[in-house]
Amino acid sequence: MDEKTIDFYDHNAEKYSKWRSDQGPDQAQKVFLQNTKPGGYILDLGCGTGEKSLWFRDNGLNVKAVDASEEMLKFLNNTQGVFCSQMDITKLEHEEKFDGIWASFSIQHLKIDEQNKLLKKIPKSLNKGGIFYLGMHEGSQSYRDQLGRLYVPRSEKDLRAIFSFNRLSIFEFFREKSSSFDGKPIEVLHLFARQNT
Ligand SMILES: C[S@@+](CC[C@H](N)C(=O)[O-])C[C@H]1O[C@@H](n2cnc3c(N)ncnc32)[C@H](O)[C@@H]1O
Repeated sequence: MDEKTIDFYDHNAEKYSKWRSDQGPDQAQKVFLQNTKPGGYILDLGCGTGEKSLWFRDNGLNVKAVDASEEMLKFLNNTQGVFCSQMDITKLEHEEKFDGIWASFSIQHLKIDEQNKLLKKIPKSLNKGGIFYLGMHEGSQSYRDQLGRLYVPRSEKDLRAIFSFNRLSIFEFFREKSSSFDGKPIEVLHLFARQNT
């Protein structure tokens, strides 16, 4: 876990929540919902202030939402239908299994070896037929942005190889141009996969 990154989110939770809420539902969350078992149990891995968790709940899914930032999680605490827990996602265990794991722009804040270890654990945390979504910035160089956050973006080729190695079969992929919380233009990758059986 990168302490400086979590510190940034702890100090900017309110602004982040407003920025995220203003964006409204996106294509990725619709694809995720369409491909997840109705009424299924999902994990929002690095949920932030929880806008996506709430949307999934409102669309009939049962949600567990985890994040390392206490202040970000405060926006979701005591919300009916969402079980919240403060957790470093690099410590994911296989005690529970999910019908879907949603990892939206959180894994990119982990060092490359932490990302790879976490991606290896994903199939073991999915129920049969369960799906995994990964959204992250595209790139090949890690850096710390002007707000102090660590970014470790990945290339499409790299991610496809890791998914394949971990027996995660991609059923939908798209990239888009977007802008980051600090207004910087970014290219983002969206990958949706199922466990190979
Ligand atoms: C860009 S925000 C994305 C939040 C949310 N998923 C969304 O799409 O709006 C990144 C989130 O990842 C969380 N995060 C970063 N590293 C983490 C770690 N090691 N464990 C848990 N959460 C982490 C941050 O606290 C932050 O809430």
